[in-house]
This record gives sequence, structure tokens and C-alpha cells, in this order.
Amino acid sequence: MNNIFVEAEQIKAQLEIADKLNNKTDKKVCILTFGCQQNEADSEILSGICEKAGYGETDDPKEADLILINTCAIREHAELKALSRTGQFKKLKEQNKELLIGVCGCMAEQKERREALMKSYPYVDFVFGTDKLYMLPQIIRNAKTAKKRSVYISDLPHNEFGVIAEGLPLRRNSSHKAKVSIMYGCDNFCTYCVVPYVRGRERSRESGKILAEVENLVMRGYGDIMLLGQNVNSYKGDISFPKLLERAGSFNGEYFLRFMTSHPKDASRELFEVIRDVPNVAKQFHLPVQSGNNRVLSAMNRRYSREKYLEKALEIKSLVPGITMTTDIICGFPTETEKEFLETVDIIKQVEFDMIFTFLYSPRPGTPAAKMEDQIPHEEKVRRFELLSSVQNDIADKLNDKYVGKTVRVLCDSNENGMCSGRTSGNKIVNFEGNAMVGTFADVEITSAAAYILKGRERG
Ligand code: SAH
Ligand code: SF4
Ligand code: F3S
Repeated sequence: MNNIFVEAEQIKAQLEIADKLNNKTDKKVCILTFGCQQNEADSEILSGICEKAGYGETDDPKEADLILINTCAIREHAELKALSRTGQFKKLKEQNKELLIGVCGCMAEQKERREALMKSYPYVDFVFGTDKLYMLPQIIRNAKTAKKRSVYISDLPHNEFGVIAEGLPLRRNSSHKAKVSIMYGCDNFCTYCVVPYVRGRERSRESGKILAEVENLVMRGYGDIMLLGQNVNSYKGDISFPKLLERAGSFNGEYFLRFMTSHPKDASRELFEVIRDVPNVAKQFHLPVQSGNNRVLSAMNRRYSREKYLEKALEIKSLVPGITMTTDIICGFPTETEKEFLETVDIIKQVEFDMIFTFLYSPRPGTPAAKMEDQIPHEEKVRRFELLSSVQNDIADKLNDKYVGKTVRVLCDSNENGMCSGRTSGNKIVNFEGNAMVGTFADVEITSAAAYILKGRERG
């Protein structure tokens, strides 16, 4: 295995280039982020590097000197959204030849997409892969001086690439909610999924670095901290994931420590006990099931059975009563029969999730499932999706009803003239009347409930 850590010298050299770029005031960067929280975390690094290079931030592409489009490749819809947004910048580039436009993220890691992007969007100045974030200063400098279009991508094949770059600046987009990446990439190769190809090999940060970052956030008053990775519970740093979670949850102060995403195959009793025993660890567990049928799970290469999943889901629910459980489901995986799909409906009913994230299967070029015969027609996927949603809505309704009359601890996200909104430890959204300041905790008495929202008033 190559040395996965980018050398400190290299990071330093990049930051020096950023300093040199910082020679003009009023420059602005507009970063558009598609996809998951990994991309959002990456965008905060891109923004931090840009800040060092003298760029303020703007949401309005028209005001920008630099536009970065951080793309997602998980489903076709995500790709189309990023492309159509990129297409809108043609005019801006015609009006302002100095404007720099860069495309990065997961789409950039797919050869065909990258080539198509460079060909069909001639006003895109540069494209860089998920592994080349730390090189942004050099990429910007080259674009300004060389005036030629460039692509920055790892030379290694997809089964080898993946670095960890420590010490990069961050510009966080919230002062009370933070994401902390603990690992990158994925080695699971679920047959439908593009992530292992575009994010590279699974690799974990050192626990010391993670814990120092969390401690610093707690000291600065962050009330919601999320440990991030494609499979956080497969973390393979110098300590185990349950230990890391326990230590990260044990700093002095009140905060919700969340983590996303967990893989069922690595969900252990030890982890469940940490969730139960450490007060700051949020009482929320996102455990993607994808399907409730054993043949489909095996065709997906998920490496657990329906029975094992159910056993773990019911175990954590009994160990941590009231925990919020959520999951991901793919509707219409190739070859999925009606009978098999109904086993997914059944697992939803048995576990009683608070919320499910349901996705229509989208064939991803280069993945084994895309080549399978018996692709399910779109209308059939939609029908299954709608059936799942309606079953789930009834379950969520019923679960939320139990909150009425109870008092819950809420971290306030917004307050407009006494109408506040926030989240509980279980990540439930609560709208409430009160005086809570954004970023502080409040005790809220729940007065009414709907499937995905609780309403209440702050207790005096
Ligand atoms: N690493 C996490 C999340 C991966 S992406 C996990 O393993 O659970 C988030 C979700 O997108 C997945 O859980 C899956 O439900 C969905 N997804 C991934 N690839 C997909 C595809 N080709 N079509 C539809 N949904 C997909
Ligand atoms: Fe994709 Fe599977 Fe890895 Fe999740 S575990 S990122 S679904 S390959
Ligand atoms: Fe999308 Fe890449 Fe995340 S494909 S879901 S942005 S890891």
C-alpha cells in the first residue's frame, strides 16, 4: 500500500501558494455542493483553502470570481443536477473572461464523465478529483497563469487510490453544527454503488487528530457534532470505533455527538452500549438495510442477512428505548420480485423506523448491478416507492404521537420572533415557541405531533 498520508511539506507548500494568491481584496468564491455530507465536509475544506487565498464567500454565482461545483455521482439524478447547474455558467463566463470555473467531487473521478465534461463544457477551466482537494491553491494558480484547461486526478487505479490530507484550513458553514470526517472511501463494493470507485480505498484518520478536533469544537460551543464516513463503524484507526465514540462523547460540555453512516455488518453490541451509556452520544442510529430479502441482499453484496439485520436493529431498540432509528432502502434493484419487495415492506413494519430514505435504483456505469438482466421498469420502481412511503408515514405518525406531553432537550437552529426550530438528541425536528438563542439548548414541552415534525413550547 502506498503512503496514504499527504506529507506535511506538501500541505505547507500548498498553503504558501494560497498565501501568495491572497493579493487582492473583494475576491469571492461560490461553492455549489451536491451529494452527501462527505461532499459538504469537503466543501468546507475548499472554502477554508479559498479563504486563505483571499476569497470571501458568496451564494450568488454572479458575484463570484471563482465557482467550484462539487458533484455527486450516486444516482443519475444527482449527476444531471450538477451538469445542468454547470451549464448555466456559460453566460457568466462570456461576460467575465477572468471568472474561473472548476468541477470537482465524485463525478470528476469517473473517466467518461470527466471527458464528457471537458468536451461539452469548454468554459470549465479545471476538473479535479476527490483526492486532489489539498492541491486547490496550485490548481487555481495554474489556471490563472498557464491559461490552459487542466485535469487533476490520481494516477493510481481505483482499487488503489486514496489519501488523507491533514492540516488543511476549514471554513465551517455553521457556528453550532459541525462535521468531522473520521474515515474516507469505501471497500465494500455493494454491487449497485459507485462510491468505492470515486472515493477510493477505505482509510481512517488517527484518533488523536479526530479527538483534538472534537474537543476544540466542544470548547467553542458547538452543540451538534457529526462523525462522518461512508461506514464509520468500520473505522480502523489506532482504536476501535466504539472507543473513539466513547472518548469523543466524553468531553466537558453538553453536545449531541452523531455519527453517519453505519454498516450493519460492523454494528456491534459494544457500539450499542456506548450509545446507551454516554449521555452526549446522540440517541439516533442510521442503519441502512437496503432490502429485506436475503437473495437481494446477497445480489447487492451487503454481507448480512435479513435475520442478522433484524436481530441487531431490535437489540439496539431494546437497549436504548426511544432511540430514533432510520434507514436507507433501494426500490427496484435489478431482479427484485414483488414477493421479495414485500419482505422489505415487512422489515419496515417490524423494526418501526422513525424515518426511511427510499431511493429508486439508478444504474451506475461500471458497477455489477448495472449489467444485470431484469432491470425493473421505472413505473414499477415508483409504485414500490409509493407503497413503502405510505406504510412508513403511518409508522412515523404513530411513533411521534408518543412524544406529546413529554419534555425534550432541543438544540435551537433558528429563532424568528419567538418561533424557534431545532433538533433533539434523536434528531427529531421540533418547532416551538420560546426565547432560545440559536446554538443553545432548550427544554421543550411537546404539545402536538405529526409524522416528521413535533411542535411545542419552551419551558420557563
Ligand atoms: N455508505 C453508506 C451510504 C452510501 S450512499 C451505506 O452503505 O449505507 C447513500 C444511499 O444511497 C445508500 O444507502 C443507498 O440506499 C443509496 N444508493 C447508493 N447507490 C444507489 C444507486 N445506484 N441507486 C439508488 N440508490 C443508491
Ligand atoms: Fe456504497 Fe456499499 Fe460502500 Fe455504502 S457500503 S458507500 S452503499 S459500496
Ligand atoms: Fe455522492 Fe460522492 Fe457522497 S457519489 S453520495 S457525493 S460520496
